[in-house]
Amino acid sequence: GLTGLLSGIIGAGPIPSIPGETPVARPLNRPIDIYRAHLADILARLAGCETAVAYESLQVPGTPANGDLVLPVPRLRIKGKKPAEQCAELVAAFPRNNPLFREPAAAGIHLPFFFVPLSLPRLILPCIFQRQHSYGSDLNVGLRDHALPAQGRKKVVLEFSSPNIAKEFHAGHLRSTIIGAFIANLYKTMGWDVVKVNYLGDWGKQFGLLAVGWQRFGSEEELAREPLKHLLDVYARINAVFKPEQEESKKARDEGRDTAETESRGLFAERNAFFSRMENGDEEALALWRRFRDISIDRYVATYARLNIDFDEYSGESQVSKSTIDWVESILRGKGVYEQDNGSWVINFEKHGSKGLGVAVVRGRTGTTTYLLRDVAAVLERDEKYAFDKMIYVVSTEQDLYFRRVFRTLELMGRSDLAARLQHVNFGKVLGMSSRLGNVQLLSDILDQSREAMHEVMRHNAVKYSQVEDPDAVAEKVGISAVMVQDMSGKRINNYPFDINRMTSFEGDTGPYLQYCHARLNSLLRKAGLTRQDLVTHLKSHPDGLDADILMDKSHAVDLLRLMAQYPDVAAMALKTLEPSTVLTYLFRLAHQLSSCYDVLQVVGAEGGRDVVLARAALYEGARQVLETGMRLLGLSPVERM
Ligand code: ARG
Repeated sequence: GLTGLLSGIIGAGPIPSIPGETPVARPLNRPIDIYRAHLADILARLAGCETAVAYESLQVPGTPANGDLVLPVPRLRIKGKKPAEQCAELVAAFPRNNPLFREPAAAGIHLPFFFVPLSLPRLILPCIFQRQHSYGSDLNVGLRDHALPAQGRKKVVLEFSSPNIAKEFHAGHLRSTIIGAFIANLYKTMGWDVVKVNYLGDWGKQFGLLAVGWQRFGSEEELAREPLKHLLDVYARINAVFKPEQEESKKARDEGRDTAETESRGLFAERNAFFSRMENGDEEALALWRRFRDISIDRYVATYARLNIDFDEYSGESQVSKSTIDWVESILRGKGVYEQDNGSWVINFEKHGSKGLGVAVVRGRTGTTTYLLRDVAAVLERDEKYAFDKMIYVVSTEQDLYFRRVFRTLELMGRSDLAARLQHVNFGKVLGMSSRLGNVQLLSDILDQSREAMHEVMRHNAVKYSQVEDPDAVAEKVGISAVMVQDMSGKRINNYPFDINRMTSFEGDTGPYLQYCHARLNSLLRKAGLTRQDLVTHLKSHPDGLDADILMDKSHAVDLLRLMAQYPDVAAMALKTLEPSTVLTYLFRLAHQLSSCYDVLQVVGAEGGRDVVLARAALYEGARQVLETGMRLLGLSPVERM
């Protein structure tokens, strides 16, 4: 196969197999594994340990200056000698003139290894060209152990975005959408079955209020024209009327008076009555609610499409069935954790071994279900429906406590098995988005404004601007990249300020910069008058993969290839961290390395003739593929020209 061929090409012999099950070398997906396997084989012989142990001990250093692979010697668990001594012995005994590794030098108890430069283009480039967009994907990761391939794929249910109907699409929903889509791509890349669920906030008393508002302020024409805006507007108007009543009730509560009385009249009563009708299955009430819901979903679908996102299911709080809810409550009662308190049903988590989780209302005083109760029931239904191996909620840290309660409730119901398959992936705040963007309330507003801001920045360069065929379409894609890259730059948990000027700039580590880098690589090939097919043909006609030597007098090319080799490990790492920044940071390193190459490694007008041109073009095209793959993994749409 290809890998044997590759290994043979560089004179390293066949890839040593690693006994045992845990470490699986996947040279086809990760060419670095060819190096890993050979190195593990050498180290195991020198140190007298298991090959598998040596294989697992090897790490990819954070900075290329510290090697391509590094062995923290204590991880070999050799008894008797001090690690530093062992390290020195390994250095002394390491084979000279190995075709894959330069001779190592110890760094304390660490042993860094550098790949032999010549091996890189011959191994990495053909692999990238062969794998194309599946370079770095690893379909084996998502397989269940000991299962037949057909039923063997693991399934993850990913719940993200989840806005509330008739309410603002706020920054928290934006982040959930961006991060959730990335995690969906990532799992898919790693061979999992992914079910993307949008759990709409489409139930609750606020729909009672919206319906009351509709009776007073609703307009069929406006609903037809701009449904989401109109529903927001109706809700805002009725809410303004409702406010004084709410304040009165709050005052009563603060003064220790019973709020039952204040809430039994006026809009409180109208709102509650309508929502009760909904909960009791009143067809007329439900028909109105369903119209609002369907219209909203139509619009969401169109807007998510701008981000390349589609959901497998538009679920929502309304979709949880009454019978599941009853069942949840009967179990809670049976387990003795459901108590009545002042007319509502609560769980006192403090009493049941969960300090810090407080007391939560599960069914409200007016007999209506709560957010918590619906969520717990939804878990049971999804498990039934999808039999998932894992379910991930992408929701802001503001709901950390809330999700701990959801998971704990399942445990108290005796479903620790189920709770163990759930994960809350959280994230921090975006500061000042609405104030900086002006009046944004819908996802489409955010995207429109970013597109406009981007378009403005593009116009500054009149010459370039005139060459762009469809500037509006480019501004749309690049503007969206600007928003997304800004969001994915830091660790999820960090808050960040929304900064439209910074994010639409071509300078610094921004979305437009990344897009520019991709477009530049494209134009490089175009200007050289080469197609991808020319390069494939060239690589094939040179059985040693490439005229490697042509690249080798430039350390820039070597360092670029070393980075390209790391991509599959970066993707694998991202599956552990579920941090978009793991991938993004890597892509910026790649982009910086590329920009330092252009001057030294010219394609058009390169000295040395056509072979040099082809070799360098292949290098850049390989880098472009890695960049594109990484960008798509993050959910960005690379542009060809800009
Ligand atoms: N609609 C909720 C909100 O806007 C987010 C839903 C999160 N998911 C869940 N299963 N509770 O705050």
